[in-house]
Amino acid sequence: MKTRHVPLLFSFVCAISGLSLNKPSLPLSTETVTQFGNPTWIENIAVRSNGDLLITELLPKPILYAVIDPASSAPEVRLLHDFSAEEVPVEGLTGIAEISHDVFVLVGGSAATLSFYAWSVNFTSTHRPLVRKVADLKHVKLPNGVATLPGSSSSVLIADSLGGLAWHLDIRTGKSVVAVQAPEMAFPPNETDPSRRVGINGIKVHKGLLYFSNSNSRSIYKVKIGKHGICDPSAGVRLVGRLPDGVSFLDDFAVRDGGRRPTIFATTSSDNRLWALALGKRPVVVAGEQDKLTLAGVTAAAFGRGLRDKDVLYAVTSGGVGKPVNGSLTEGGKVAKIDLSAFWL
Ligand SMILES: *[C@@H]1O[C@H](CO)[C@@H](O)[C@H](O)[C@H]1NC(C)=O
Ligand SMILES: *[C@@H]1O[C@H](CO)[C@@H](O)[C@H](O)[C@H]1NC(C)=O
Ligand SMILES: *[C@@H]1O[C@H](CO)[C@@H](O)[C@H](O)[C@H]1NC(C)=O
Repeated sequence: MKTRHVPLLFSFVCAISGLSLNKPSLPLSTETVTQFGNPTWIENIAVRSNGDLLITELLPKPILYAVIDPASSAPEVRLLHDFSAEEVPVEGLTGIAEISHDVFVLVGGSAATLSFYAWSVNFTSTHRPLVRKVADLKHVKLPNGVATLPGSSSSVLIADSLGGLAWHLDIRTGKSVVAVQAPEMAFPPNETDPSRRVGINGIKVHKGLLYFSNSNSRSIYKVKIGKHGICDPSAGVRLVGRLPDGVSFLDDFAVRDGGRRPTIFATTSSDNRLWALALGKRPVVVAGEQDKLTLAGVTAAAFGRGLRDKDVLYAVTSGGVGKPVNGSLTEGGKVAKIDLSAFWL
């Protein structure tokens, strides 16, 4: 008699402890950190070691902003640099990543004249950051995500969404060489939808592996890279995960350490949702809804680096201007935060 009650009691205890562990129901709630006017397409995000966020604007203007103390109740937004005042044509900014302590590299330019550039933004010397053009990206067809290369203070990797490859840029010489080129970084040549003619998009280096997203195939891949960020040609590209067919796009992503199976938090732009995926796990929606403005046009995400926000994911959005919610609804791009301290895939 007694033993027959054990499974019942066990499941009851599990239910209770499930509650007390606060296993969150999905999608998780989001909170707006700051929001810009409509239309504003925020494209990418990097986080300073002091916890401030750096965010790049794709349209209507090529502006770099900082969000000071994003975990506080009243974060301050500061315009750091308007690149439309540069002597070269700049319409929008895309990727940004830290290259060495408090020095960041960002990319942008003009899709109309097909001219793209990289700049360094140096916070180490003065109160105002020092902005310097470091390269003409002559061979890059469409620079998108930028990745920090641990162990190098002078180079970054740059995803080329149209070229279907990753470049290695040395900011001392301004020269780019091909770091990795693989079929998994391209889109099919017969792709006719211009919004889907995007291959490799986001890139991050994590524990000696280059993780990258392919927007067209809604997939995350990884490939081993050498010390200098150049791919060993014999290293194979491996699929980490793919979002379901119904998802139209996979944009940039953030990596959270998880031993041998880090979790990827993938943004989806026109799908308006944040997904989590990991090798061997089924992808799940973490936040946002397809027909809501919650994460409308979510373009990129990064974890906090402050004392209070290491489990907080900051996501940036376009407000849905690329593909309005329900066909007609947009809002100003924003920075939203999602507390992931209780979320594990
Ligand atoms: C950043 O500024 C500091 C101080 O002026 C300088 O020593 C350093 O070389 C700069 N770094 C880069 C990458 O420009
Ligand atoms: C492109 O070609 C592939 C392989 O032939 C085919 O499966 C796919 O449907 C085509 N896509 C488009 C957009 O025509
Ligand atoms: C979009 O339409 C659906 C279905 O009518 C509705 O539930 C949803 O709230 C709408 N979204 C917004 C942002 O109004």
